[in-house]
Amino acid sequence: MADTTPRLTVPDLLEFKEEGRRITVLTCYDALFARLLDGRVDVLLVGDSLHQVLGGHDTTLGATLGQMIYHGAAVVRGSRRSLVFVDLPFLTYQVSVTEAVRNAGRVLQETGADGVKLEGGVTMRETIGALVRAGIPVMGHVGLTPQSVHRLGGYRVQGRGRSAAQRLLADARAVEEAGACAVVLELVPAALARRISRQLAIPTIGIGAGPGCDGQVLVLHDMLGLNEGFAPRFLKTFADLGPVVRKAAEAFSREVRDGRFPSRSHSFD
Ligand code: KIV
Repeated sequence: MADTTPRLTVPDLLEFKEEGRRITVLTCYDALFARLLDGRVDVLLVGDSLHQVLGGHDTTLGATLGQMIYHGAAVVRGSRRSLVFVDLPFLTYQVSVTEAVRNAGRVLQETGADGVKLEGGVTMRETIGALVRAGIPVMGHVGLTPQSVHRLGGYRVQGRGRSAAQRLLADARAVEEAGACAVVLELVPAALARRISRQLAIPTIGIGAGPGCDGQVLVLHDMLGLNEGFAPRFLKTFADLGPVVRKAAEAFSREVRDGRFPSRSHSFD
């Protein structure tokens, strides 16, 4: 019988927080992985990390709106139950509020996604408010914000020390007050992330922010062990697929060279 379970909704995220049910988020960039993950995690995040993970770049800065829309639409096509959020890439929402609304609107219209994610706290208050007033669900992102990697001086823990912690708390509060439905806390000391999670009514989704958040996000290719050599402290690899892929490629080449593949059973009469 066909599975008729409906797709999660944005208000479900808030309900999960109220019920104390932890929210699970994985990045997803294509329809194939979306089909595998669908219904097994609450949210599929089409992160601009795809520029690094798939594109081999050092930062997310070069991701374009066109790329995000292409990958976002693929993930929506491959899923029926998980929520889909798409990252707004660098310079598509920072220049003006009007541009932000137009670009985020395009993402929703052209992908069918449920919402967008953008980086920044206090400085993004007005933008988040305008998007939410336009009917666009927004997930915030504070702490280590990869689109500001050059200003921050690298991919390092944020919010250490009293004044930095106060600023981070103010950022998270601003995101909530502007109307966001959730906020990612990236590379934040665990005690601070727990404090922020307790103070906010919207769910916090941590990455490198300890166990006190309302949910957790990881980059899919990292947690599957496909991004070999990338082993930050916060990452747990839940599968080791790198060697599996390498062995399969070697077996394919061996069998083709030996004349064992394709066999008769793989051929047409
Ligand atoms: O782009 C991304 O994948 C992200 C997650 C790491 C939160 O923003």
